Amino acid sequence: MSDKLKIAIQKSGRLSDDSKALLRECGIRLQNGKNRLLAPATNFPLEVLYLRDDDIPQYVEDGIADLGILGENVVLEKQKKVTVRQKLGFARCRLSLAIPKSENYTGPQQFQAKKIATSYPTILGDFLTAQGVEAEIHNISGSVEIAPSIGLADAVCDIVSSGSTLFSNGLKEVEVVMKSEAVLITNTSLNTEKQATLDQLLFRIDAVNRSKYSKYIILNAPREAVSAISAILPGMRSPTVVPLAEEGWCAVHSVVQEERFWEIIDQLRQQGAEGILVVPIEKMIL
Ligand code: PRP
Ligand code: ZN
Repeated sequence: MSDKLKIAIQKSGRLSDDSKALLRECGIRLQNGKNRLLAPATNFPLEVLYLRDDDIPQYVEDGIADLGILGENVVLEKQKKVTVRQKLGFARCRLSLAIPKSENYTGPQQFQAKKIATSYPTILGDFLTAQGVEAEIHNISGSVEIAPSIGLADAVCDIVSSGSTLFSNGLKEVEVVMKSEAVLITNTSLNTEKQATLDQLLFRIDAVNRSKYSKYIILNAPREAVSAISAILPGMRSPTVVPLAEEGWCAVHSVVQEERFWEIIDQLRQQGAEGILVVPIEKMIL
């Protein structure tokens, strides 16, 4: 038995590019071959299995793959014995109910005794039960969005990301059943060696994701404003302050959270900061 960690990712579809990009940003290089099901990493004890996302929970439960990257929606639907280890922040979407654009929507009761096409019968069934609605659920595995126009169903329950699939099929989103994003799942009993490799991988994923929400900021400020600016920009430990050639001026380097960025810029300018540069961070280790 090889002690390489096997990770299953989506072969093609909404998650596959971002899943591959995450491994790349974690410094993992893959031996590429066209149309291969299995690609070993050349510089990390890892093998990548390319699968249909819907099959990943079963492979991970059975231990054919040790871990997998897929949408929370699929994890919840398949009800397999796997551990959700980490939210990954990409492939955000909603699982929603949608009806033809021309119809009015009054609330979940409207689905009483209606036919709903979906690939998520378990999640939808639980949602309708909680709403006290009895509907007929048609489980279909693909092209759910065309069901109303061919008379197969009154409504659909499907994944909505940009909304363009619904729009181009004359449907409108009326009820969000769940929100979802990509997660990392693992088999429930990994051996010690694989657990150690997984910890190394999680450490790298954490560094990559942390850097995505932070920016490196560099600015010039009058010497007397440095302590006020340090309070606004605490950074990882404390900001780096270096004197400029011009007497009485300093350069301050720090890290800022993307979401607080505009609020912080205003405060910095009030303190006399100028020449503010904001640059992306590639990796961030605490
Ligand atoms: C979903 C859904 C739509 C599309 C919606 O498929 O079935 O086809 O994404 O995206 P949009 O709102 O941006 O148009 P998903 O990739 O989850 O499908 P699959 O795994 O079933 O192939
Ligand atoms: Zn799928």
